[in-house]
Amino acid sequence: MPEADLRDCFHRSLSFGLYDRSSSEDTERPEANANVDELSRTPPGELVGVARCVTDHTTVAYLTDVYIWPTHQGRGLGKWLIACVQEVLVSMPYLRRSMLLTSDWERSVPFYQKMMGMELMGHKTRQAAEGGPAIMQWKGPMFPEGV
Ligand SMILES: CC(C)(COP(=O)(O)OP(=O)(O)OC[C@H]1O[C@@H](n2cnc3c(N)ncnc32)[C@H](O)[C@@H]1OP(=O)(O)O)[C@@H](O)C(=O)NCCC(=O)NCCS
Repeated sequence: MPEADLRDCFHRSLSFGLYDRSSSEDTERPEANANVDELSRTPPGELVGVARCVTDHTTVAYLTDVYIWPTHQGRGLGKWLIACVQEVLVSMPYLRRSMLLTSDWERSVPFYQKMMGMELMGHKTRQAAEGGPAIMQWKGPMFPEGV
């Protein structure tokens, strides 16, 4: 995807960036709600991880593009990033559900069960899904009863 389109995807989403400040000058901290363009102009460090939720910011959120740079993987940063995402989602009082799709049944399914309290929707096993992705959801405070 061209960089401009990728930037637009993150700009239009509830996006999370993880920055390594250890190798950068201690520059002025951007606003906590700085957007993608502002962060690109004055990054608070080297970008080493991202995640984003496609969301209306009220009732539903779809988590995608969870990625930690290979140089920074395996140090607990992915867990911390997802804990931050969940902290924000939990703060949405009218959220019905957050969702995600993953084809990594072995690692990602237990990871999101543990980190976000997600549960499988539809097919419960890879075999039942016949090679398709795992569809997962977390029921928010406004999840409709009886669904
Ligand atoms: C998956 C990813 C975000 C994990 O971040 P990380 O910083 O490397 O992981 P952490 O050190 O915080 O934690 C590792 C945990 O993530 C779990 N995990 C889930 N999916 C994983 C994956 N694809 N690769 C590595 N670990 C994964 C591990 O099982 C481990 O759990 P445990 O500590 O309970 O055993 C990162 O490895 C990554 O960006 N991978 C490539 C992109 C990708 O697969 N993204 C899709 C994620 S659903």
